[in-house]
Amino acid sequence: MEAPLPTVDLATLTSQLRALRDEALPRIAAAPNLAALDDLDLHYLGRKGGALSGLMRGIGSLPVEDRPRVGLVVNDVREAVESALAGARAGAGAAALAARLAAEAVDVTAPARAIPRGTLHPIVETIERISQIFGQFGFVTYEGPEVETDLTNFQMLNIPPDHPARDLWDTMYVDLEGALLRTHTSPGQIRVMQAERPPIRALLPGRCFRYEAIDASHASEFFQVEGLMVDEGTNLADLKGQLVEFAHAMFGEGTTTRFRPGYYPFTEPSVAFDIGCLVCGGSGCPACGRTGWMTILGAGMVHPVVLRHGGIDPERYQGFAFGMGVERIAMLRHGITDIRVFLDNDLRFLEQFR
Ligand code: DAH
Repeated sequence: MEAPLPTVDLATLTSQLRALRDEALPRIAAAPNLAALDDLDLHYLGRKGGALSGLMRGIGSLPVEDRPRVGLVVNDVREAVESALAGARAGAGAAALAARLAAEAVDVTAPARAIPRGTLHPIVETIERISQIFGQFGFVTYEGPEVETDLTNFQMLNIPPDHPARDLWDTMYVDLEGALLRTHTSPGQIRVMQAERPPIRALLPGRCFRYEAIDASHASEFFQVEGLMVDEGTNLADLKGQLVEFAHAMFGEGTTTRFRPGYYPFTEPSVAFDIGCLVCGGSGCPACGRTGWMTILGAGMVHPVVLRHGGIDPERYQGFAFGMGVERIAMLRHGITDIRVFLDNDLRFLEQFR
């Protein structure tokens, strides 16, 4: 049910309308933000429950001749309130924008934040250092495949089936006829000899695999760098000279070195190459097994049978070869005592090599 229409006279209604305007304008001027202005808009000008609509309901009780005069006042009041609202809204919008711009301001002169940079893994860095040193002797870097065959990993290297030296390389086989994960980088020698003509100076870094019980000095996955030099008249003195130079470049000019007889089926003669213990300087300590020496690689003169498998005439050409474990070199360089850290990928370890 509609509420009964209020009865008013012209003067009262007019003064009520002006009072509404006089109340509204200062409140609009003082409104703190756009939301408050929306509330005031609704309160005074709202079509249904607004204060102005409420007063206008009294118009019906006025004599007909008075109504246009009130209408003029109503229009004045509405326009005054509307324009006050519009002005205040513009101001509040500008203030809000200014506040946002201030809050989101970017200082384009501030120094840029440092972008975190990765580093070379110590194994990669060590391989690069080895390649750099032998690069100065004229060695060129090649890469062979990680999956080889019994033929290339063993037989071509003068290790026939059932040869006792196979015990040196506990092998992981791939589920394919004759395929295996290479146990050393030496099969790369055959590939380089088959692809190139002497003089050859080749370096072959790469990942190798062995079926090992894992401990602080054994990993089932590790890196080697193989070296091969083939030319007319290459001899053991060439081998010794270049390996001693390498040891001095890698571990320092004062590093002592020695060659011991060794055995590998693919070299004859074979040697083991030692450097004076970097921990005790040669007097003997737990790190060198109290010998004062640390073995860093195996080497030798390439066996004539192996040269022939590489398509090279051993009557005309001779060669030397060597193979070193990269982890061992990196551990000696950085004083690392556990080989497993290289594959853990623990950032606390890796971040030390910046
Ligand atoms: N392939 C050997 C190994 O894995 C290391 C080696 C020894 C490589 C003597 C050579 C070499 O080229 O001449 O134990």
